[in-house]
Amino acid sequence: MNFSEKLQQLVADLDQEKASTAEETEQFRIKYLGSKGVFKALFEDFKTVSSDEKRAFGKQLNQLKSTAEAKFEEMKASLNASTTATKPHLDLTRPGSLFDIGAEHPISIIKREIIDIFHGIGFSVAEGPEIEDDWHNFSALNFPPEHPARDMQDTFFVKNPNGSDDFVLRTHTSSVQVRTMTEQKPPIRIIAPGRVFRNEAVSARSHCIFHQIEGLYIDEGVTFADLKQTLEYFAKEFFGKSKIRLRPSYFPFTEPSAEVDVYWGLENELDHRITKGTGWLEVMGCGMVDPAVLASSNIDPEKYSGFAFGMGLERSAMQRFQIPDIRMIFENDVRFLKQFQSAL
Ligand code: PHE
Repeated sequence: MNFSEKLQQLVADLDQEKASTAEETEQFRIKYLGSKGVFKALFEDFKTVSSDEKRAFGKQLNQLKSTAEAKFEEMKASLNASTTATKPHLDLTRPGSLFDIGAEHPISIIKREIIDIFHGIGFSVAEGPEIEDDWHNFSALNFPPEHPARDMQDTFFVKNPNGSDDFVLRTHTSSVQVRTMTEQKPPIRIIAPGRVFRNEAVSARSHCIFHQIEGLYIDEGVTFADLKQTLEYFAKEFFGKSKIRLRPSYFPFTEPSAEVDVYWGLENELDHRITKGTGWLEVMGCGMVDPAVLASSNIDPEKYSGFAFGMGLERSAMQRFQIPDIRMIFENDVRFLKQFQSAL
């Protein structure tokens, strides 16, 4: 075979070549482009070509080498494409990625539990505005005009566009009692969870924003015994404690009034700390709705009577989840928030 024939043979051979595996691709490279390959030999041969043929054959040989190189690149590329197509790195046995569902806020957890407990005995949820007028927050609840709670020190006043400063950020959820009593006829059985505001110095133990849940039950013949039974039931369900005591207290809107303590026990150091060594934990205020309050909401105090109670949520949340500083509850640092997975 002379050089010209060898070149023609090579054109035909190259045309036939194909590779479908990595090995075949490598064999192609060794056969044509390797150090002992076809081109190496042809370039050796080329030295023997007569000088007048060199020009034409040289050009042809270089072109064919480029063709072979291009073909090799093409083989590699299609090999990569086919590996990804036939062997996807999609592992169908791998568990799916989970939705980032977030966590329930500790206050929401406590609130939901308390709502659930009272739902079970026929209480439904009522709500009211956080910006409240003086009447619903104070006057209708029997706070006399000179009552210290109305003082600038305790209450955030809100300027009304018409200039009067009759509006406040509600200082307790008892305002929802009034709203419910003026809107519904007895029997009334509601709990009212919500945010309340007091002009207090912020510290690890107290905040100017906190949450309360109010309870209200009005019907014919409701007595203090009903109140006590309800609170005992709640203490058992919520704290898992069966002993409570009622200490006489004072609220303008209830008569008689009491503070409710739950017997926590003194079994360990934590019990000592949270009960200040007494074994008793104060959990809420309560009392029989003052007849004057019923009357100011147009409920006949001769016919109806009722009880009310109100408790803060922060303290329970702090105990339950061992939160050392109340401010953490309001800072919304996700590293704090994501720790409280709902038990659901
Ligand atoms: N509103 C009272 C408070 O803020 C709590 C309370 C509610 C007391 C209902 C008695 C009855 O402390």
